Amino acid sequence: MSDYIPFAAPCFDTAEEEAVLRVVRSGWVSTGAEAQSFEEEFAAYIGVAHAVALTSCTAALHVALKAYGIGPGDEVIVPTMTFVATATSVVHAGAAPVLADVGPEHLTFDPDQVKSLITERTKAVVPVHLFGRMAAMEPLRELCDSHGLTLLEDAAHTLPARDGDAVAGRAGDASAFSFFATKPITTAEGGMLCTDDARVADEARRWSLHGLSRGAVNRYRPGHSAAYDVDRPGHKYNMSDLAAALGRAQLAKAGRLHARRTAIAEVYLRELAGLDRLELPAADTATNRSSWYLFPVRVHGHRRDAFRQRLHALGVGTSVHFEPLHRFTWLRDHVVRTGQGFPVADAAADTLVSLPVFPAMDDAAVSRVVAAVRRAHDEAGR
Ligand SMILES: Cc1ncc(COP(=O)(O)O)c(C=O)c1O
Repeated sequence: MSDYIPFAAPCFDTAEEEAVLRVVRSGWVSTGAEAQSFEEEFAAYIGVAHAVALTSCTAALHVALKAYGIGPGDEVIVPTMTFVATATSVVHAGAAPVLADVGPEHLTFDPDQVKSLITERTKAVVPVHLFGRMAAMEPLRELCDSHGLTLLEDAAHTLPARDGDAVAGRAGDASAFSFFATKPITTAEGGMLCTDDARVADEARRWSLHGLSRGAVNRYRPGHSAAYDVDRPGHKYNMSDLAAALGRAQLAKAGRLHARRTAIAEVYLRELAGLDRLELPAADTATNRSSWYLFPVRVHGHRRDAFRQRLHALGVGTSVHFEPLHRFTWLRDHVVRTGQGFPVADAAADTLVSLPVFPAMDDAAVSRVVAAVRRAHDEAGR
């Protein structure tokens, strides 16, 4: 199956190879100058004052919540249609995630649902820019302002995305990005916390490195004091220079990677239009631009898993984003409230299939996906 089109693959070239070699040969591979440069470059790219490079988006969500002082007794509203880390990071902070159903079009937060779940315990709202399309931030901002809540963006799928004047990563009080292997840019594993608030960035840094007052690179430098203090039981979430070097090389071409994802999405939107049992995602508009991290289609009238199997047999890898959180055992047992239902997420969930949309796909691969989807769709209709 050498010509099998995987669901996703990273887009590396000599820039990433040279970046990794540079660090390997430098004599320092843990958090240091590369991580600092990546933070500065990323902050400038998003347009925020501070960026903290971490081992994952999960870590970024976790230390952001800690930095805002959110913990035991507090509630944080998250959508059910997301990856589990959006909710478990709240649990790691000691607080309680509260699941909200989503709106039918983009499957992102429905602000009325969010509003109905706010209690005196609520401390934060975490919108997920699902698939790369921004959640509607304006109503959420108003809700958070009027109730004194923190607005923390789960921006794992975006780089870049925008909705009018709202830019993913700087539309909330803080935001968390993912650099997991399949994400718009990757460091193999990694994440970034962004904020304009210097206090939040400092707190997050402390929480992410054992509560230490000074990182290793500053203690090991010739002539520098080895002394440090510990003012809290922190975690171990600092990004290595090796990962940061990969991130810098990826960030330098983020515009090109996004343009390619957008071009592939446009082909799918054009070539797959009009299939009666296939619902396509909404197209970009002049003001609302997706990162096209994912290209989710909804398959109606026949079994989603059989459709995926057929695509697999035709040489096309796919994935599913997401099984809603309220269906997982632990969340059902510990998070879902008695009588709580999620009809919109449930109606969409069993129909979703994510097609390959990674920038390394050439035009021939894109055409093969189109042909395979058309064939699987037609066969399933017989
Ligand atoms: C919406 C969302 N949030 C958070 C995460 C967690 O990202 P990471 O693997 O970098 O911790 C993911 C990962 O896929 C995700 O899809």
